[in-house]
Amino acid sequence: MNNLEEIKNSSLQEIEREVFREINEIKDPGSLEHLSTKYLGRKGILTAFLRNITQLPVEERPAAGKSANLLKVKLENTLKDLKARLESETGENNDAIDVTLPGRIFPRGTLHPITRISREISAIFSRIGFDIVEGPEVETDYYNFEALNIPKYHPARDMQDTFYVSENIVLRTHTSPTQPRVMEKVKPPVRIIAPGKVYRCDSDVTHTPMFHQVEGLMVDRNVSFGDLKGTLSTFVHQLFDEDISLRFRPSFFPFTEPSAEVDIRCVMCRGAGCRVCSGTGWLEVLGAGMVHPAVFENVGYDTEEYTGFAFGMGIERLAMLKYGIDDLRKFFENDMRFLRQF
Ligand code: PHE
Repeated sequence: MNNLEEIKNSSLQEIEREVFREINEIKDPGSLEHLSTKYLGRKGILTAFLRNITQLPVEERPAAGKSANLLKVKLENTLKDLKARLESETGENNDAIDVTLPGRIFPRGTLHPITRISREISAIFSRIGFDIVEGPEVETDYYNFEALNIPKYHPARDMQDTFYVSENIVLRTHTSPTQPRVMEKVKPPVRIIAPGKVYRCDSDVTHTPMFHQVEGLMVDRNVSFGDLKGTLSTFVHQLFDEDISLRFRPSFFPFTEPSAEVDIRCVMCRGAGCRVCSGTGWLEVLGAGMVHPAVFENVGYDTEEYTGFAFGMGIERLAMLKYGIDDLRKFFENDMRFLRQF
């Protein structure tokens, strides 16, 4: 290769013919590497040719240089393509897709059980014509108590342990303040539910200082206690199933008259008696009643023309029954093992 005769243009054609003949026989990356070194390496045949161009007669150098460089580029490209093909065939290329590897796991969030059941409750009431509204969690004494027929210093205030923000501002102890808030704004007919957070200064195994309620309110001409029963039965049957019966027990709330506490057949033992229902076969799930005339007067509704019912239920309690959760505190611990199940 080093003598002048061999580095003429004609020998470049010979190099080209020879190298492509050898390329045709390459079957693995190893021999490709070998060939690459043989022609393009520091002591390679084509490298030597290029270096020796300076020894050609001046007038031949440009043409010889150009041809040699073209061949070099062509060779490099060919070897690159061939290398990629061989590697993907033998699986040696790191960029190649290994279909036997497990897929990447993308972490996915799930809905908190309280969110999930709240949405389900809202969906059920939407279907029977109720609108969904929300009220503030930081509430005035007026809406939380006064407007609901609970005067200051009245013993009924003891029913709930209140967080006071200031003398006239509280963290709402129930979702009932949404009742006067809505009625102040709209004329009957009213059909709303109001889900949200409520706060009571209470903390033990079955009570947390913050929990969730859904308020319900319907006001129109001729609304009766029968409508209340029908609405709540429909709701319970849709949330649980058709076989769950309801029981109304007389009770007291300052803002309803008559008032009732509502039990449902124990969804765990179906009435036989178990730990969840303390052997009674019944579970208390909500408070309800016919809207007290004093509440209507506070919002300027004509008590001769309109009647209405209201109810309030604890969402955690319903979620525990629906999903079979035995400890209230699980909702607030944010234990991933618990939350992932939803
Ligand atoms: N607000 C009551 C409570 O928190 C529940 C209730 C709502 C009762 C509406 C009657 C009517 O206990």
